[in-house]
Amino acid sequence: MKKSIALTLLIAGALGAAASAHADPRARFIAANCSYCHGPDGHSRGAVPSLAGLESKYFVDQMKAFRDGSRPGTVMQKHAMGYTEAEYELMGKWFAAHK
Ligand code: HEC
Repeated sequence: MKKSIALTLLIAGALGAAASAHADPRARFIAANCSYCHGPDGHSRGAVPSLAGLESKYFVDQMKAFRDGSRPGTVMQKHAMGYTEAEYELMGKWFAAHK
């Protein structure tokens, strides 16, 4: 039990260190939820649009538009509903920084 807590802390520390080069480490964890479709760090390899390098205001506007239905989407409305506007901002900065 003790060992697994220590391991968890170790992993969290390592991930934190890797992310600290960027503005806000939380963004990395949220953005990871998008990588299944949008590719690692938003670099898509398929039909889904890349998020990497999108201007953060454009990104936030698209998320709001998906959320309120003014931009139709296949799956994005569900994803947009799962996050707050503060999280849109965080992700927007994160993806803008990953050209
Ligand atoms: C299940 C696959 C899937 C996941 C997971 C997913 N997306 Fe998407 N995303 C799409 C598809 C497909 C589109 C194209 C529009 C549509 O069909 O809804 C899209 C479009 C977008 C766009 C518009 C891009 C542009 O160039 O206008 C943004 C922004 C976006 N997604 C953000 C996100 C974020 C942020 C997450 C994670 C919180 C995420 N997506 C997770 C599939 C996904």
